[in-house]
Amino acid sequence: MERKIGITDTTLRDGHQSLLATRMKTEDMLPIAEKMDAIGFHSLEVWGGATFDACMRFLNEDPWERLQSLRKAFKRTKLQMLLRGQNLVGYRHYADDVVEEFIKRSIANGIDILRIFDALNDTRNMARAMEVAKKEGGHVQATISYTLSPVHNLEYYVNMGRELKEMGADSLCIKDMSGILTPNVAAQLVARLKAETGLPLQLHCHYTSGMAAMTYLKAVEAGVDVLDTAMSPLALGTSQPATETMVAVLAETPWSTGLDIEALSEIAAYFREVRKKYKEFDVGDGVVDVNVLRYQIPGGMISNFITQLSQQNALDRLSEVLAEVPRVRQDLGYPPLVTPTSQIVGAQAVLNVLVGRYKMVTKEVKEYLRGFYGRPPGPVNEEIRKAIIGEEKPIECRPADLIEPELPRVRKEVAAYIQKEEDVLSYALFPAVAKTFLMERMAAKYNVDFNLAEEALDKGYPV
Ligand code: CO
Repeated sequence: MERKIGITDTTLRDGHQSLLATRMKTEDMLPIAEKMDAIGFHSLEVWGGATFDACMRFLNEDPWERLQSLRKAFKRTKLQMLLRGQNLVGYRHYADDVVEEFIKRSIANGIDILRIFDALNDTRNMARAMEVAKKEGGHVQATISYTLSPVHNLEYYVNMGRELKEMGADSLCIKDMSGILTPNVAAQLVARLKAETGLPLQLHCHYTSGMAAMTYLKAVEAGVDVLDTAMSPLALGTSQPATETMVAVLAETPWSTGLDIEALSEIAAYFREVRKKYKEFDVGDGVVDVNVLRYQIPGGMISNFITQLSQQNALDRLSEVLAEVPRVRQDLGYPPLVTPTSQIVGAQAVLNVLVGRYKMVTKEVKEYLRGFYGRPPGPVNEEIRKAIIGEEKPIECRPADLIEPELPRVRKEVAAYIQKEEDVLSYALFPAVAKTFLMERMAAKYNVDFNLAEEALDKGYPV
């Protein structure tokens, strides 16, 4: 049956997050906005994920101002963001008041579609974000993080899809962050999720293992509605399949995207030049990563291991570390490897190889075993849990139920140097990074030395 396939272009979020260490500046996005806006994309993923942190940490940019400028520039296309459930765009669970306010301000500043996921697929960690997004008039795209393990079978994903529908999802997304979803499994998964939920279904794959374009075609045949792609200069490698490729392939099928290749090629030419500016951060070598197929480890994790092990003169232990990752994952009940669980599993795997298995345990693994990240997908290795947290019982409740409201305290702390309500949220999420950013901005505004501004604020002077 003929069907129109939607395309979400990720160039301005996942594309440069995956290939250019999230460094693309707003000034390199705006000049091409008008042309991108005219294409007729289903949506553009432009915000959230690591971009929020990276704006302040590396670019001296206000992430909220980026969103405002993009909203102004994209007059007709829906804007989309990636949100890590209760972790928002950070790396820990925040209190419900922060979640509520952050989502309100995201939608008020121009986000239309919120793609919400949890690293453990623990729907309790997604519930509050989904509820608020819905109430504020956002489109809730509830997300299933795809991984492989004995507990992650077709039934598991279909049950999760049904649950997300009951929780109010407007659409579903299958998020294949590692690039391990094969064409055949995708066809089964898509067909089942469509049949059981009837919801619009979007597929997000990374190209890392070289399979994603084939996976997309099979998913389209099986009934998927929207695909995530990036413009060719910021596609492939650890990013998404190329927009132009999928548009050309689907044009010959009953599932055309209706997008114009000629118009797309002008946009591609622009980004080809932009990419050159970011050479020093460019991690894309365009090579298919076979380790992803061997170990199901996301590409980003492997490059982190190489950096970490080189620093400790232990690069020769890399293959042991790669082999240890699946074991740690099994011990922890098979968490999907995505922020922040990829970092938690990765750091422990390195320690296990260099120091001895669980001789040293990270604070995060302890917290994980206490239940503070949520419910592990499968059973945890009891022997290891006992050895690490003893007789202590893991919490049974939703982790955020134990977090007191945070905004009243944060508001007091930043009262002296905020210019707008959104600054409070930047600080609530990333206190250290935001403090430096906000102070430097203030110092620049009043043309004073940064240190003087800091001193004035510490002493409580009005600046
Ligand atoms: Co992604």
